[in-house]
Amino acid sequence: MTSAVRTRSSAELIGAEEPVLAHNYHPLPVVVARAEGAWVEDVEGRRYLDMLAGYSALNFGHRHPALIEAAHRQLDRLTLTSRAFHNDRLAEFAERLAALTGLDMVLPMNTGAEAVESGVKVARKWAYDVKGVPADRATIVVAADNFHGRTTTIVSFSTDEVARAGFGPFTPGFRVVPYNDLAALEAAVDETTAAVLIEPVQGEAGVIVPDDGYLAGVRELTRRAGCLFVADEIQSGLGRTGRTLAVDHEAVVPDVVLLGKALGGGIVPVSAVVARREVLEVLHPGEHGSTFGGNPLAAAVGTAVVELLETGEFQRRAAELGGILREGLRSLVGEGVVGFRSRGLWAGVDVDPALGTGREISERLMREGVLVKDTHGSTIRLAPPLTITAEELQGALRTLEKVLVQRT
Ligand SMILES: Cc1ncc(COP(=O)(O)O)c(C=O)c1O
Repeated sequence: MTSAVRTRSSAELIGAEEPVLAHNYHPLPVVVARAEGAWVEDVEGRRYLDMLAGYSALNFGHRHPALIEAAHRQLDRLTLTSRAFHNDRLAEFAERLAALTGLDMVLPMNTGAEAVESGVKVARKWAYDVKGVPADRATIVVAADNFHGRTTTIVSFSTDEVARAGFGPFTPGFRVVPYNDLAALEAAVDETTAAVLIEPVQGEAGVIVPDDGYLAGVRELTRRAGCLFVADEIQSGLGRTGRTLAVDHEAVVPDVVLLGKALGGGIVPVSAVVARREVLEVLHPGEHGSTFGGNPLAAAVGTAVVELLETGEFQRRAAELGGILREGLRSLVGEGVVGFRSRGLWAGVDVDPALGTGREISERLMREGVLVKDTHGSTIRLAPPLTITAEELQGALRTLEKVLVQRT
């Protein structure tokens, strides 16, 4: 950052973005300049507690020392090779990530959407090569209100009109059923079905936690139907819910797990398709790839992330602090909160619409030094770094109470 940039105020910097940045986001009016742990600081030096954690990309907080050190060490040695050559970091990353998830093989990519796209391609190829679905007939069953990313194929099976309108024509081959409805899923699956693709907890939809037994039911149904269970754990995975993966709550092992966000330690984009050998083995040289996927810097940071998760400490923290979050939110029901859903250190909170939209509540919280983001309507999402302390979390809950009581 040059000193010229550093001397510009928040208002000036927000204004300067207007003419030159595509308006595909509506950020809160805060300009972050530095961060550490669960705290960020704006250009004027005001501090905020980060209760969003980059939509779970910052599960280990900002600049976790072990992750920063791994990145620095790798920056000084080797950053990029492309997959034209081998690099000395990728094998360890893949081995340890596969072991962490209880699966066999890893396809490294970069962003979440890329992992989802890759999962769709792998499932289709598996359907043709292994299951024997006639060419170009494979279908994938997905859930309503899903969020899997923004590419043209992914928005083809979104049910959010804002995400779709103006972006057709869409990719065929998807069937949409209601979430958390095993009977509807059963009715949609047939001999053309390559996979069922769902989020074990629907994050963007407002942290929608399915009924107990749903994930085990999806596992059982897909096994019986001879199709793949693909779990998009890009937001729910890697400690957020109190377990390594959200499917672990029902002791379910999907055929394919999609990971992203926190896998990059809040430093670089790292995503992966992790799967059973029989599934990822359908890919042969030249059929799929990515220049940056599996680069040494990403592999080094990803390995350091896996190492943190191998200790179990973050999963435990999420589970314990999740209890505090749940109790705190329960005490606000009827006091401005009309309902909430939570799993681990992750909650969707429905605020009384009379008190404002989710956006308005988020802005009021921001003015009180707490950063959150709305999802839909009057729902806000809480997903602090898993490194947050109990006192910091209780402080955020008190601030939420204050904002709801103030009513403006
Ligand atoms: C469940 C899920 N899948 C996929 C994505 C897309 O990830 P990315 O924004 O890295 O492409 C997201 C992002 O929010 C997500 O929550």
